[in-house]
Amino acid sequence: MRTNYCGELNKENIDQTVEICGWVNRRRDHGGVIFLDMRDKRGIAQVVINPDNADFSTAESIRNEFVLKITGIVIARADGLANPKLASGDIEIVADHIEILNTSKPVPFQIDATDTSEEVRLKYRYLDLRNDAMQKRMRLRSKVTHFMREFMDNNDFLDIETPFLTKATPEGARDYLVPSRTHPGEFFALPQSPQLFKQLLMMSGFERYYQIVKCFRDEDLRADRQPEFTQLDIEASFMNEDEIMAMMEEMTRGVFKNVIDVDLGDKFPSITYADAMHTYGVDRPDMRIPMQMTDMDELMQGVDFKVFSGPAASEGSRVAALRVPGGSSISRKQIDKYTKYVSIYGAKGLAYIKLNEDGPASPILKFLGDEVTAKIIKLTGAQTGDIIFFGADKTKIVNEALGNLREQLAKDLDLYDKKWAPIWVVDFPMFDQNDDGSLSAIHHPFTAPTVDTKTLEKTAPTALSRAYDLVINGSEVGGGSIRIHQVEMQHTVLKLLGISDEEAQDKFGFLLDALEYGCPPHGGMAFGLDRLVMIMTGCDSIRDVIAFPKTQTAACLLTNAPASVSRKVLRELSIQVSLAKKD
Ligand code: AMO
Ligand code: AMP
Repeated sequence: MRTNYCGELNKENIDQTVEICGWVNRRRDHGGVIFLDMRDKRGIAQVVINPDNADFSTAESIRNEFVLKITGIVIARADGLANPKLASGDIEIVADHIEILNTSKPVPFQIDATDTSEEVRLKYRYLDLRNDAMQKRMRLRSKVTHFMREFMDNNDFLDIETPFLTKATPEGARDYLVPSRTHPGEFFALPQSPQLFKQLLMMSGFERYYQIVKCFRDEDLRADRQPEFTQLDIEASFMNEDEIMAMMEEMTRGVFKNVIDVDLGDKFPSITYADAMHTYGVDRPDMRIPMQMTDMDELMQGVDFKVFSGPAASEGSRVAALRVPGGSSISRKQIDKYTKYVSIYGAKGLAYIKLNEDGPASPILKFLGDEVTAKIIKLTGAQTGDIIFFGADKTKIVNEALGNLREQLAKDLDLYDKKWAPIWVVDFPMFDQNDDGSLSAIHHPFTAPTVDTKTLEKTAPTALSRAYDLVINGSEVGGGSIRIHQVEMQHTVLKLLGISDEEAQDKFGFLLDALEYGCPPHGGMAFGLDRLVMIMTGCDSIRDVIAFPKTQTAACLLTNAPASVSRKVLRELSIQVSLAKKD
């Protein structure tokens, strides 16, 4: 139907007769002459319809978003009328013939508007996706998956599909359930990840597997979480963690270089989980920010300020300082705002010292005294013009409060010293200890510990795992581990997690059985594709890189899913719905 794409027309096409197809991005009537900005997947070109054109009355009836086929001659725009913002801005097409392929109702928002509410954008997603920014993001996403497939293929990984209608796969979220009609009262679970199946594929002798696959998790949503999201999921036999990480790093470097021409540098640095928490307060440190937390426990034990001396001396608590370069200009009002911000994480206050031209200034100087103040300045390396914030509380609260404050301050004050900062986080603990002393898995229950079964039983709360996460710019883009490949160890870990033999058999009997038939040592990793594309495109939400995302309440505004179903369908599924009132 067409000879050229709008966005690709340029001076070289001058004098050619072309046929273009696309949408009317904007129609402008200049009293006698009509201009159409025609848009297709490659961009925009301007079409001119003169009043002597036989199709002029057709042109008068045209509105935005009509679908047209236009035949015309490409000419150079007159001097001074070129549009440098358009790739085709040096030319325009003088229309000869206009064919309306389809009309359009008035659209609820201008396609290239940037202030449309997300609610409206999601309701009319098919229109929102016509927007240039969305088109570019989806194209970039496709380039990313294309590169990934090629890389995996070149490294002898096999693309194998795994079931969606399956049994619970524990990754720490709630399951989405699907009722079975043929087994009344029973449910499939949609997979939280293909974890168990990819391990079974290693036991089946494939040695290298990958899949670009949907995962389903019913969890509280945030800007970087969706109920269904996509992983590049990988598993390999006979590779240790160094080999897997090196290969995944090569793939990540390749994706960035090939798709957005960004050089992520040589070997990615790595940090232990313990160091990340201690120094940055989070297990996904944003290494673009040149700020660290400084430990103040030793210094504060003897001070006459209970807010600090208490946590400094007690087990499980800490006092830490965060030096903010150039932060002394932060106003009282802003400090109040940050105090409120850290209270979300349980912090009871946000003490600070400003280093003004005329010396340190703070409401707490009188409690600390000159000597301690001088030591704080020395320990944090603070300079005139800086501010030092303090957290004093349970370690978890201080880490979360100052860790998140560090990121918020970096955003507000633009405190980044690089654009891209990948880092591996390693040496995760095997378990999290709950308040009642019970243990839960930090990665998933199939992750191998660094020690043998006997040692693990004795040291469980402090034992480390063979897990690794890849963090880029403070976002966890992927995670994986070496797996347990011996059945005794798997039994030990499940027991430590408080899962009885009976429950283990019921939930993962197939895996436990398979482990006994010559299971090779294996490990793997999964990348969060949406998160990766989100940071590559500089978006703040993964909804902006997913064609049809769900809202924060896990609903689809386009299709109105989820929806109720008829009684007949429910009866077939042997399901009764009772909407009990929430108490
Ligand atoms: P994990 O649970 O860490 O590991 O998930 C891997 C990566 O998937 C992304 N991710 C998400 N992205 C969007 N929305 C969500 N709700 C969401 N949850 C996770 C993150 C994360 O790093 N089976 C293991 C992997 C393995 O061990 O091989 C797993 O699923 O970027
Ligand atoms: P107060 O003595 O409670 O008025 O607190 C004096 C200063 O210490 C104020 O700036 C508070 O914001 C701050 N502060 C109080 N509790 C904490 C805490 N747990 N961690 C850090 N700063 C705190």
